Amino acid sequence: MLLPQAKEVKLNGSGVSSNNNNKMALGKSIKMYLTIFVATTCVYMVLYQYHMSRQPLATNEVIKPPLYIITPTYRRPEQLAELTRLGYTLKHVLNLLWLVIEDANRTNPLVAHTLDRIGVPYEYLVAPMPEQYKLTKRAKPRGVSNRNRGLDYLRANATEGVLYFADDDNTYDINIFEQMRYTKKVSMWPVGLVTKTGVSSPIIREGKLEGYYDGWIGGRKYPVDMAGFAVSVKFLHERPQAKMPFKPGYEEDGFLRSLAPLDNAEIELLADECREILTWHTQTKKNSPALPLNMTRYGHTNLAFIEKLLVRP
Ligand code: UGA
Ligand code: MN
Repeated sequence: MLLPQAKEVKLNGSGVSSNNNNKMALGKSIKMYLTIFVATTCVYMVLYQYHMSRQPLATNEVIKPPLYIITPTYRRPEQLAELTRLGYTLKHVLNLLWLVIEDANRTNPLVAHTLDRIGVPYEYLVAPMPEQYKLTKRAKPRGVSNRNRGLDYLRANATEGVLYFADDDNTYDINIFEQMRYTKKVSMWPVGLVTKTGVSSPIIREGKLEGYYDGWIGGRKYPVDMAGFAVSVKFLHERPQAKMPFKPGYEEDGFLRSLAPLDNAEIELLADECREILTWHTQTKKNSPALPLNMTRYGHTNLAFIEKLLVRP
């Protein structure tokens, strides 16, 4: 089919033919230049990537040691409010994994939904309090199974960085996170709103840890609050037996003792050598469980939707 046409073109005269040849040659050279251009661009891109990969990172881009924040939580009307407040505090902190561990047998989709919305990298796990402690009339070891579950997670999944036990109801100044990030073994600092002294703190004289100030010493070697210390993950790996005891009032002391040997001189004193308060043991007023919604009256209103967002015990 093409041949007769080609012939015809030839027959029509050599002028037209050479014109066509010129066009073809031009097309060819455009193609060639385009190929060269694309190839050169590709080569430059590869060289640029290689060059960038060899550049040292700017100081503000250096990857910081990871922080592992272990937060015990449990089902109650205030739960989502507490997690929301803490979560948005943690959102200001780089390279952090939030281990939210609920004292329950199964996870709650409302909690998962809240964590998703906040957008801080998290793991949501469960670790129920053993039955024997749940049933007791005396003080319960609150948050202990959760924190020990967090320690197991770190032993299995983390190699470096720092761990910190952040109860869901406390208040945290984000500066403390940047300070604790470089903990070599154990670091400590004051916690406001603890006991009648109004603060629980290491006592420092001439730069040295001399003892502890707290309204309740109770024969503890480390009379400190859960919010007042952090531990390096490497150090935790060196103490494979370390864990928190199910002993109300002695959770912090028992855990810190289980990190032995630990010299007092090895405890790093943060928050300007314990002259500042950057964490507070705040407590939220207890709210009674929400009344059930009258569905006959409100079943076809927005209340039917928000009713599903209420955490009931
Ligand atoms: C104080 C300390 O700050 C806690 O670290 C310590 O565990 C607790 O005392 C204790 O010795 O029992 P406090 O404010 O009295 O804390 O206790 P909560 O805030 O009610 O509980 C501590 C953490 O455990 C919270 O994160 C809470 O969500 C969690 N929790 C509490 C549970 O997981 N299960 C519970 O039944 C109660
Ligand atoms: Mn509390």
